[in-house]
Amino acid sequence: MIRPLRLGVNIDHVATIRNARGGDHPDPVRAAQIVAQVGGDGITAHLREDRRHIRDDDLKRIQAATNLPLNLEMAATEEMLAIALAHKPHAACIVPEKREERTTEGGLDAAGLHNQLAPIVWKLRDNGIRVSLFIEASERQLETAQRLGAEVVEFHTGEYAHAGLDGDAEREMRELDRIARMAALAVDMGVEPHAGHGLTYENVKPIAAIAQLAELNIGHYLVGEAVFVGLEEAVRRMRTLMDEARDQGGKP
Ligand code: PXP
Repeated sequence: MIRPLRLGVNIDHVATIRNARGGDHPDPVRAAQIVAQVGGDGITAHLREDRRHIRDDDLKRIQAATNLPLNLEMAATEEMLAIALAHKPHAACIVPEKREERTTEGGLDAAGLHNQLAPIVWKLRDNGIRVSLFIEASERQLETAQRLGAEVVEFHTGEYAHAGLDGDAEREMRELDRIARMAALAVDMGVEPHAGHGLTYENVKPIAAIAQLAELNIGHYLVGEAVFVGLEEAVRRMRTLMDEARDQGGKP
């Protein structure tokens, strides 16, 4: 059976634009409300250590403004753990974070960081927060995620997206195949697979067609498109493409 595919909208870059002028506009809360109105399934927000986009007070305001589940992306630090426990989002997605990077450039090395992650995963879970790990689609990372007790893994689709931008069809297919195989394995292992990063109208369909994926998290492209067509229209169009891909069962 093909399961429904949720769309989580990452609204970080609405806050990036707001922060460029240091004021209150555009407000990511308004973006969250629009996502809710047009049938988005969740809000994703990354509270970075340097607060370059989402800020602490945004989290509470987003939670108060919509009934959509909040997926808080966070680094595996004591500071972020305390914030997550205070806000109790529906889910917490643990991501690697480097100050100097422009965006989350790679997956979390769950295997290498096992001992650092273990207590954080358990504290989040003990507090009823669904834990996701943002990892590369590899067996080693997936097995570690399962061993750590993560209920969800989010596969990093950045390499797939880059291959497409580079016009490297072979690498793109290889990446797609890797993500599809690991999504199937995740389901067999009892872990819910999600995917995200770098997804656009042009490259979303082959990913959305992977029947085992339960959720895609998409941000930068949607906020960029919103400049031209509005956030409502951008989310609607992405949703339509995802639905078409599911209905076609992966056929072009
Ligand atoms: N999922 C995770 C875990 C991320 O860190 C990001 C980027 O912050 C996204 C999804 C969304 O990626 P993009 O903004 O490229 O759509």
